[in-house]
Amino acid sequence: MQNSIHKLSEMKAHGEPIVMVTAYDYTSARIIDDLGFDAILVGDSLSQVMLGNDTTIPLTMDEAVHHTKSVVRGAANTHVVSDMPFLSYNSNIDTTLINAGRFLKEAGAQSVKLEGGHHICETVTSLVSCGIPVMGHIGLTPQSINQIGGYKVQGKSKKQADRLIDEALALEKAGAYAIVLELIPAEVSKQITSKLKIPTIGIGAGIYCDGQIQVMHDILGLFELFTPKHTKQYVNLAKQMREGLTEYLCEVKEKKFPNNSHSFSIQQDS
Ligand code: KIV
Repeated sequence: MQNSIHKLSEMKAHGEPIVMVTAYDYTSARIIDDLGFDAILVGDSLSQVMLGNDTTIPLTMDEAVHHTKSVVRGAANTHVVSDMPFLSYNSNIDTTLINAGRFLKEAGAQSVKLEGGHHICETVTSLVSCGIPVMGHIGLTPQSINQIGGYKVQGKSKKQADRLIDEALALEKAGAYAIVLELIPAEVSKQITSKLKIPTIGIGAGIYCDGQIQVMHDILGLFELFTPKHTKQYVNLAKQMREGLTEYLCEVKEKKFPNNSHSFSIQQDS
């Protein structure tokens, strides 16, 4: 049985840091599950790091459900949250419910994440009342990149910071069980975290959040196009992949692989 949303609340109450990471496939989810992470996000960052799009905007419901299914198969003990794609929760509540329901019914996730503040509170309440737990996401909301005009830190002025605090409180009141705070000053996330009963999960939001989330490809050095300032690269898997693949390429070209130990022969006695 996966960790529930209640376990995350208890962790906040006990001051135990919540650790989340993104995943988009079965093999990675199995490793993350073995290591005992508190939750996995099938982030819409999959649009960029797995599907090669420039932004999260082109991601479709079918793509998100497809990747969530493979993560769920690998995450026997870990809570799986699915990011709802751009415009999959903004038109009307019936469509939103059908889309959010697909992540739980079809893909087997335990909750969904939506970007936005006041304007999505009604949606959050409707989903929660139907039994779909919702994680909020404020600060930098990449699905609004065309509105925001770039991946910039949010909430730097007093007015913007107050607005973020209001949005966090409104999402909690609407029924969200946790909120991702992305790219906001540490002092602002400190205030939000102290005012909320539900956990805050930071990414580029400093040290005071109840938990942290990172994009797996960033911390493992798999995505070479861009490394955000808020990330820490723990290993350079892209380099290791290049080395391993180069060795394989050369060995086949030089007729060193395969050798007899990788080959099969017919049975002598049959
Ligand atoms: O899609 C994603 O990876 C996210 C994280 C940045 C929180 O939403």
